Amino acid sequence: MAIRKVARLGHPVLRQKARELTISEIGSPEIGRLVADLMDTMAEYGGIGLAAPQVHESVRLALIGFDGGSRRYPGMGEQPLQALINPKVTVLDPTRQGFWEGCLSVPGLKGLVFRPRRIRIDFLDLRAEARSIEAEGFAATVFQHELDHLDGVLFVDRVEGGLGDRKLAFQEEYERYWMPAPGQPIGELAD
Ligand code: NI
Repeated sequence: MAIRKVARLGHPVLRQKARELTISEIGSPEIGRLVADLMDTMAEYGGIGLAAPQVHESVRLALIGFDGGSRRYPGMGEQPLQALINPKVTVLDPTRQGFWEGCLSVPGLKGLVFRPRRIRIDFLDLRAEARSIEAEGFAATVFQHELDHLDGVLFVDRVEGGLGDRKLAFQEEYERYWMPAPGQPIGELAD
């Protein structure tokens, strides 16, 4: 197990469409090692999700998991740690909900992104068994953000608005001007 270097915005690996894993690969020692490294790397950086392309492995595998004590995303509820292989998203409620997102591959920046608020993800687990989970609210955003990484999409691509109203900020300015006060809703619905 090891902490891996995280690719940052500008590295071509983040823009590739990652390939699916085969059933025989899923049980392999290489993929076992990759999952362990993703866990270590995510824990080291305080992430709530990490996709394989972010550690320079262009395969369709991502980890997601967070608890209420996340350093980077306080008060966002919890989601048990889950490895998702070859995931597919189905939108269950297209109502768009906006959250300020960040990314270990875009350090220091936060941006307001609107996404469908309830989804189902069909995927294979680490034993190559087909599974499906539903997510809503902030968790739905986290899943969609991570799965975007498998298609070469970063949250900065999805920040809306033009000159003057694009909600993109450095962490410090986010905290100063945009962060919801304690007790305020962390997400907002699209108009
Ligand atoms: Ni990310």
